[in-house]
Amino acid sequence: MSVVALVPAAGRGERLGAAAPKALVPVHGEPLLVHAVRGLLAAGSVRHVVVAAPPDHLDAVAALLTPLGAAVHVVAGGPDRTESVRRALEAALSFAPDAHVALVHDAARAFTPASVVRSVVDAVLAGAPAVIPVLPVTDTIKRVDAAGHVVGTPDRSRLRAVQTPQGFTVDLLRRAHAAAEGAATDDAGLVERLGQTVATVPGHPLAMKITTPFDLAVAEAVLAAAGTGQEET
Ligand code: CTP
Ligand code: MG
Repeated sequence: MSVVALVPAAGRGERLGAAAPKALVPVHGEPLLVHAVRGLLAAGSVRHVVVAAPPDHLDAVAALLTPLGAAVHVVAGGPDRTESVRRALEAALSFAPDAHVALVHDAARAFTPASVVRSVVDAVLAGAPAVIPVLPVTDTIKRVDAAGHVVGTPDRSRLRAVQTPQGFTVDLLRRAHAAAEGAATDDAGLVERLGQTVATVPGHPLAMKITTPFDLAVAEAVLAAAGTGQEET
């Protein structure tokens, strides 16, 4: 059954503060986006990858991805992540109208091991219509009000930090985006609004999102220590 991957990569990377959009920032000699797409292809089952790129960097992104092969397509992203995913999904449906599984994977989670991609795909193929990789939360999390005063402490044992790729049947992802009113920080959030169950599989520390200069330094150090561009686990 055919798997397509949608890669939202159109963000400006404001918290990273680099001169270029975050997807183009190099780590270990290559842009984050190249690491991310290569990682998806390394999982083995992904037929098409559709990247939603910053609209003013389409040519640069296409040139970077050409060496990865004809299965990788580039479209212009939107003003927020949800809209970027929606545009990539629309394009994917034209490249691969028979696709059964859609993965949505942040370019910013550039070092996600292929094993995580495979466990998400396998769980969807095994019958779960929506699957997300998660990690236990190690910090205690507080809920605060607008003034910053603590109003509650959720039970940490029931909290999870959510990563990507998130996997869905194409039909469900399409319905979730069609019904979406306003943006969400992840696609599972849109699926939850439909009342659909979202399953979890174990994530991985390397699937961390590169958000700040500190995250970038951590990724650089991890890759330098590993001596490779992409961990295959
Ligand atoms: N993204 C996107 N289109 C947007 C905004 C974000 O495709 N209009 C993508 C980013 O490129 C990233 C993923 O969504 O791969 C997660 O977003 P985030 O980490 O917040 O990246 P940025 O929005 O680029 O960063 P910042 O919020 O610091 O500006
Ligand atoms: Mg953002």
